[in-house]
Amino acid sequence: MTRDSLITCRRLCKSYYDIRNAERVVALDEISLEIPRGEFVTVIGPSGCGKTTLLYILAGFEEPTSGEVLVEDRPIYGPGADRGVVFQEYALFPWLTLRQNVEYGPRERGVPAEEAREIVNHTLRLVNLEGAENRYPHELSGGMRQRAALARVLVNDPKILLMDEPFAAVDAQTRAALQREVARLWAETGKTVLFITHSVEEAVLLGDRVVIMTARPGRVKADMAVSLQRPRDPTSPAFNDHRRAIEQLLADAGAATRNLVNE
Ligand SMILES: Nc1ncnc2c1ncn2[C@@H]1O[C@H](COP(=O)(O)OP(=O)(O)O)[C@@H](O)[C@H]1O
Ligand SMILES: [Mg+2]
Repeated sequence: MTRDSLITCRRLCKSYYDIRNAERVVALDEISLEIPRGEFVTVIGPSGCGKTTLLYILAGFEEPTSGEVLVEDRPIYGPGADRGVVFQEYALFPWLTLRQNVEYGPRERGVPAEEAREIVNHTLRLVNLEGAENRYPHELSGGMRQRAALARVLVNDPKILLMDEPFAAVDAQTRAALQREVARLWAETGKTVLFITHSVEEAVLLGDRVVIMTARPGRVKADMAVSLQRPRDPTSPAFNDHRRAIEQLLADAGAATRNLVNE
């Protein structure tokens, strides 16, 4: 039985014109990917391999140079409420309280005040930020701010969460807490998640599947299923096997590109 594909990329290519060096840069080279509804996919690859470019195309911020990108069999025309994007930077309005920040999306969409309040309360509970609603962003810790950024996206109830190295800037302990939180949110809400990371451990900890990309031009080097039971134990031998296999693939991916450059 095949599950239906929520996100489909077919031979997706993206090149940029680099003005400084007056040349075309191929960021993505024939990326083909199918992501079923409800799946948590992590993407890992060397810096500059096109991970953010892939996420921007799925978010509708960038257009592909060639190939197809579909959500529910329909091409993407710009950003949409079905896709929520979480960046490494917190993206909160500093002059609004936490509640006002989260309320912003529903109010913009014209949701009546009473109903918006309900949705915001629910969302704040979901991300464990109850009780902090009247604080301003500068009064929140790094971890709380990142949960607030997540709440701002979840409040719009997108089908798809696109996350670009969201926890790269927080300390190790906060990161571990946020990882547990995201795993729980995903399990509770059934969202489809594309999560970019440069941490092999994070990729294995969170993903049903890890997509490993090659150094530029970004191609899919491997697509590895992670069938470890959740919650996952990063110190277990099976976890380590996955970690080692991905590290090897990443090393190969980098080496292949260096050879190309030397030729
Ligand atoms: N707007 C742009 N104009 C020109 N080149 C770009 C642009 N955005 C990204 N690139 C180039 O495309 C490649 C992939 O970038 P990016 O997707 O940000 O990689 P990653 O997120 O994997 O580090 C890089 O070489 C980068 O310099
Ligand atoms: Mg990036």
